[in-house]
Amino acid sequence: MQKPKGTKDNFGYVQYLRQFVFDTLRDVSTLFNYKEIETPIFESQDVFVRAVGETSDIVSKEMYSFKDKGDRDIVLRPEGTAGVIRAVVENKLYAQALPLKLFYIGQMFRYENPQKGRQRQFTQFGVETFGEKSPYLDAEVILLASTILDALNIEYDLKINSLGDKETREAWSKALKEYFAQYKDQLTDDSINRLDNNPMRILDDKVDSKKDFVQNAPKLSDFYSEETQKYFEDLTSFLETIGVNFTIDHNLVRGLDYYTDTAFEFLSVSKDAGSQSTLIGGGRYENLVKQFGGPELSGIGFGLGIERIVNDLSASLKEEDINESPDVFVMNIDESATASALGVVYMLRRAGFATEWNYKPAKLQKAFTKADNMKATIKVIAGPKDLEQSSVMVKYSDRQESVKLDDLIDFITKALGETNENN
Ligand code: HAM
Repeated sequence: MQKPKGTKDNFGYVQYLRQFVFDTLRDVSTLFNYKEIETPIFESQDVFVRAVGETSDIVSKEMYSFKDKGDRDIVLRPEGTAGVIRAVVENKLYAQALPLKLFYIGQMFRYENPQKGRQRQFTQFGVETFGEKSPYLDAEVILLASTILDALNIEYDLKINSLGDKETREAWSKALKEYFAQYKDQLTDDSINRLDNNPMRILDDKVDSKKDFVQNAPKLSDFYSEETQKYFEDLTSFLETIGVNFTIDHNLVRGLDYYTDTAFEFLSVSKDAGSQSTLIGGGRYENLVKQFGGPELSGIGFGLGIERIVNDLSASLKEEDINESPDVFVMNIDESATASALGVVYMLRRAGFATEWNYKPAKLQKAFTKADNMKATIKVIAGPKDLEQSSVMVKYSDRQESVKLDDLIDFITKALGETNENN
């Protein structure tokens, strides 16, 4: 039996890196005062159609959708934002002190063509921030993303764009419709379908985006309203002031329909990233909360692909540098002392030492081999005679000492400190 195409089994070194990334994400988000939210892995189809947009690739081609036994249209979530908005509105979380700052970690599903950095089941960390619309809040969300990458020692290029306010987008959309109408016979069927209701999507169509006339289409930035222009200038000059490096890229359009105003992407600079080099993508969305039946509340957030981050991290945090061996191995060498040996194991675990033992008594030599195979830093021989005297034999580096059980925790703490220093 094989795992489904586009999925992965995570274990060993990769799982260690994933946990390291999760811990860092939780730590940094907490410093920025974000609180964790968990929403269902599956939602009503309508949640994504409404938020992500019917003409987006994600909704039109990539959703894992099915009818459940109650004839409901269900979708395995392709992204995190829509479910969070649904939860914010359903639970009236917006009634709390604003800004409301939420983060999530979870599995997402997209029926895409798998390749390096692109899976059908993948893991996203994301944040969503609700409150006022302010370039300073946008800057803080971008700063959170860059602080995360800095904490993980990952180098990146940051690209920023403004997708404009309503006035800007209406003017641009009108210009795009007129422009693309002249080239209708050269557009793919997908693009022709988008021409009337979402001409912007033609720009990132996988086929059409490579054509010259698409690349020369009217630019959004030529239609910026005064307000958009000022907002974007405030954001970029504030980012400069706080020392976040970025480039402005007016060609940056995101693949989901809900974005307005600020949009950004953090790209990997690693040669190993392949074509899927976007580590983080995000932006502001003006209308989503209202669209879901909530108040008029602007939001901004981003999503980060855990697998892409882990791929970058594996270049700097090598498998051989990671020590996942137990601190202590307790050698159980006699049936009569098994219960006491387990008592020692529990005492060590309670004191915070990662401890393994051979639950089935074994001859001394066999128990040694087991401890060596596990690469335990310290070996404790739980022999019946020693235990009768409330002591055990401790072996580490090239030393061996008899230690009273009352002193064992202190002794192991010191011994581990010494061996770590020598390594
Ligand atoms: P997105 O750009 O579709 O945005 O995805 C965000 C990140 O998820 C990508 O930059 C990438 O690292 C990762 N990712 C996406 N698809 C895959 C895949 N098939 N395999 C592996 N990794 C993948 C969103 O999903 C928005 N919800 C982000 C957001 C939150 N915007 C505002 N708030």
